[in-house]
Amino acid sequence: MGKVIIIAGTPGTGKTTTAKLLSKKINAVHVDVSRYVIENKLYIDYDPRHLSYVIDEEKVIEKLIELVEKSDKIVIIDTHYPEILPPDTVEYVFVLRTNPLILEDRLRKKGWPWRKIRENVMAEILSIVVSNAINRFSEDKVFEIDTSNKTPEKVVEEITGVIKGYIKPSKQRIDWLSLLKPEDIMRYEISGEE
Ligand SMILES: Nc1ncnc2c1ncn2[C@@H]1O[C@H](COP(=O)(O)OP(=O)(O)OP(=O)(O)O)[C@@H](O)[C@H]1O
Ligand SMILES: [Mg+2]
Repeated sequence: MGKVIIIAGTPGTGKTTTAKLLSKKINAVHVDVSRYVIENKLYIDYDPRHLSYVIDEEKVIEKLIELVEKSDKIVIIDTHYPEILPPDTVEYVFVLRTNPLILEDRLRKKGWPWRKIRENVMAEILSIVVSNAINRFSEDKVFEIDTSNKTPEKVVEEITGVIKGYIKPSKQRIDWLSLLKPEDIMRYEISGEE
């Protein structure tokens, strides 16, 4: 059975870029859960409002556990929904964080509509992914990495150091609400016409 390392974060924080590089570097298996769900038809519906699939949670959990049990390598699970995995199977949860203004830029480059950009930037401002991860996994398994001014290579270097034990992981908790100007936060609030 392979060890499980989760790379989590709001969309656009760099999970897939980081997980791909990391899996090459440490010879691990990379599972991009969004892609895996589509490729294996593990969804029950499509939600046109959120432009995303509604996943069949039971099937996704079953398939992921099966994959981890069969693997003799470390399995890197790349997802914005880390709490889907049972806590005892997971060794580390790295939550990638990105300054909301930079995240907006990255999401614009994905060509997403403003409504979807706004919702995801707001989720980042409110630390939704990290809060859910801390609730589900014990606090000492969850590490945040601010990717705003770091190359993907640097992010991978930090994660590798923690996994291999030569870097002491940062216990930093990131709170964009206290770092941003109120007018920047207000740009992402729901407007009347939505
Ligand atoms: N550390 C980084 N610094 C700057 N840009 C980055 C960094 N990591 C990723 N990016 C860029 O940000 C964009 C989003 O990255 P990526 O697709 O890996 O994010 P994601 O978290 O997997 O998103 P999604 O949840 O939508 O799959 C890409 O254009 C990527 O090149
Ligand atoms: Mg991705």
